[in-house]
Amino acid sequence: MVFQDLNQSNPSNTFSSEQVQSLVEISSLLNSIHDLATLLPKIMDVALAPVQAERGLLVIKENDDFRVAVARSIHNDEEDLVDYSRSIVRRAMTDNVAILTHDAQTDPRFSDAQSVIIKQITSVICVPLVVKDHVEGAIYLDAKQNRTQFTNESLDFLKILANISAIAIQNARYFEGLALEKVRLQSEVERTYAFSEIIGNHPKMIEIFKLLEKIKDSNISVLIEGESGTGKELVARALHYSSTRRSKPFIAQYCGNLSENLLESELFGHKRGSFTGAHQDKKGLLEIADGGTFFLDEIADISPTIQAKLLRVLQDGVIRRVGDTLERKVDVRIVSATNRSLKKEVEKGSFREDLYYRLNVVTITLPPLRERKSDIPLLVHHFLKKNAQRHGDPTPKRISPEALRQLQSYHWPGNIRELENTIERAYVLSSTSQIEPEDLISPHFETDPDQTLRHITKQHVLKVLKDCEGNKKKAAELLDVSLRWLHYKLNEWHIESD
Ligand SMILES: Nc1ncnc2c1ncn2[C@@H]1O[C@H](COP(=O)(O)OP(=O)(O)OP(=O)(O)O)[C@@H](O)[C@H]1O
Ligand SMILES: [Mg+2]
Repeated sequence: MVFQDLNQSNPSNTFSSEQVQSLVEISSLLNSIHDLATLLPKIMDVALAPVQAERGLLVIKENDDFRVAVARSIHNDEEDLVDYSRSIVRRAMTDNVAILTHDAQTDPRFSDAQSVIIKQITSVICVPLVVKDHVEGAIYLDAKQNRTQFTNESLDFLKILANISAIAIQNARYFEGLALEKVRLQSEVERTYAFSEIIGNHPKMIEIFKLLEKIKDSNISVLIEGESGTGKELVARALHYSSTRRSKPFIAQYCGNLSENLLESELFGHKRGSFTGAHQDKKGLLEIADGGTFFLDEIADISPTIQAKLLRVLQDGVIRRVGDTLERKVDVRIVSATNRSLKKEVEKGSFREDLYYRLNVVTITLPPLRERKSDIPLLVHHFLKKNAQRHGDPTPKRISPEALRQLQSYHWPGNIRELENTIERAYVLSSTSQIEPEDLISPHFETDPDQTLRHITKQHVLKVLKDCEGNKKKAAELLDVSLRWLHYKLNEWHIESD
């Protein structure tokens, strides 16, 4: 039996043309096959023929042991083969040596194999698959007919084959790992941006959910209107990740107060040399989003030039890079958002009417939080849960009824974003497992007493009453309230009836 160090080879050996052909073949497989299930049988086939082996095994390392990935035999005795070769494969792998023997029958390590099989075996060759000192597996071949069948050339050939194969196997494993990771990330992203992450029970929100369901798989353009912090981007993302376009990119571009040149080159790309600083061709984001969804955020601000170019995208599905004459096809779904009324911009003449109608096939108007205060408890619990996850708390902190009442009586100019930030802060500030009113103290909640509705109401009522020279009936008429209400309030404020 010959044990050969893998790093030694016999330079005087020459390969048969079939062996060279096999090496060429396997080296091109390395570039083209990325899944193990296809790659491993190929390696086995390429290994068997040129050395005229009758049986072959390809084993892959798994934890501390190995598993047989491919077994081949012209005698249909693959099962025996696996049993018989176990010790020799293990030896090649643990010692990282190539093994060549012509006298398997007398080798003591085969003594536990069935004699009937051993009797027939003459030549065995086994080569570990190694990448950077890391054994990935082994190729085992044997033959029983011709004692001199496996030569040193066969061994050298197999060692080269094994080196190339080991890299291919490692690459395939890496690719498969990446593919799995991609699937995992994709499903995580889809979960993060599912419709179910848009919280709301208010009739206006229910209407929006129904509409979203209806339009998610169509390609129609959607305009999302709503004040700052009402969830426009959240809705745009949910629309994309619930649609058939979800495996393609979602790209958001903020269009508000950006210079026209910058925005144009971002959206449409540019040709090299089209302006100072354009050192090379650049793809526009609309091109990169091909097949996916493009979110134009703060659309009301875009210039007439960009409006015209966007119209081309929506009408004909083409873009032209800055400085280029070539028109390129793009397939993007356009979702846009604005916190101003786009219709008013059209009336003022600052926004093209034709573009407005193209962008606005469907409008989703997100209500401000003050108009859906009934959703506050749901939202608060949603954000408490999110914070618990972030902090690794097994159960989320709770909120006291009084704190919740305070949240519900606030007018939320910053809408849901402000509520989310308030909860995030309170979560950290509260020292117990329950958020109390004092934890809500924040820049937003340092309410100026002069700004409260109660105070303003009082000031206004007193002023009107003064204007009416204390005539309550007249004042109530002017204020459009009942005389009873006025009496009630004056009483509450401890103001004498006269
Ligand atoms: N219905 C909702 N349910 C849960 N979270 C929400 C909801 N609406 C908004 N949010 C959260 O509030 C924050 C602000 O939302 P988003 O960024 O979508 O608002 P926007 O309308 O785009 O605001 P702006 O006009 O300022 O860009 C985000 O963190 C978002 O996840
Ligand atoms: Mg936004």
